[in-house]
Amino acid sequence: SDTLGEAAAESGRYFGTAIAGQRLSDSQYTTIANREFTMITAENEMKLDATEPNQGQFNFSRGDQIANWALQNGKQLRGHTLAWHSQQPGWMQNMEGPALRQAMLNHVTQVATHYRGKIHSWDVVNEAFADGGTGARRDSNLQRTGNDWIEAAFRAARAADPGAKLCYNDYNIDNWSWAKTQAAYNLVRDFKQRGVPIDCIGLQSHFNSGSPYPNNYRTTLQSFADLGVDVQITELDIEGSGQQQADTYRRVVEDCLAVSRCTGITVWGVRDSDSWRSQGTPLLFDGNGNKKQAYYSTLDAL
Ligand code: XIL
Repeated sequence: SDTLGEAAAESGRYFGTAIAGQRLSDSQYTTIANREFTMITAENEMKLDATEPNQGQFNFSRGDQIANWALQNGKQLRGHTLAWHSQQPGWMQNMEGPALRQAMLNHVTQVATHYRGKIHSWDVVNEAFADGGTGARRDSNLQRTGNDWIEAAFRAARAADPGAKLCYNDYNIDNWSWAKTQAAYNLVRDFKQRGVPIDCIGLQSHFNSGSPYPNNYRTTLQSFADLGVDVQITELDIEGSGQQQADTYRRVVEDCLAVSRCTGITVWGVRDSDSWRSQGTPLLFDGNGNKKQAYYSTLDAL
């Protein structure tokens, strides 16, 4: 195959990227994105601060710009994200308790309803576990509304858009031996056992020196899949360069393809110059839009 999207489709998978609205006027960027990718995530434009800047006043213009670009170009959409401790609008940052719980659920309902029928998968809840060895929930205003805030968000999302797959999404849940991975695993297992709606786990998979690609990554993907959920690699980027980076991309793809319920991979940006890791070169295209070694190893492995 000639493109990442076509190659992934040969095994029934998608290959996606994050898209930033402010770059849609860059024709080099849109040419690459349109050619290579079959799944689109809005890098920031569907987050809480973008979609509900004032309480009860929703603004979908930036999210819709990305959604329209994706759907007009025949791509699928991942929704990112409905409930998160970060990138909350100021009014929400200042809320606590039952009022916050109600505001969060209203946000989930309104945003999922707006995009109903257009979203392949929603990151319903993002980054709810703490780093480190405890496996505890991350402290946040949402967590302080009660431990059941995650399942409440998933139930609200299911009610609003029954056709979307509902994912729990996090970083540092790649290494099977890490407590945070086990905590996410136990959440999914508990939801499946109790019938709380959940369809997928999103592994962000931002790999760098502090959180390198783990040799047991395939075990992690397979273990989540064995709980009866799809596994999606949702924000892949790999710090480094040259052959070593290319080899790591290859291993990530090989691991996903070895797990039948690993249904797609999304990289977190198009060119290195588009990456949120501004000092790194973690993506598949260089700043001039040229295919990197990592691009060719990824395409070859798909
Ligand atoms: C990042 C975006 O890439 C940046 O543009 C923004 O300034 C901060 O957020 N985990 C996530 C993503 O789930 O939403 C984050 O995206 C990267 C880490």
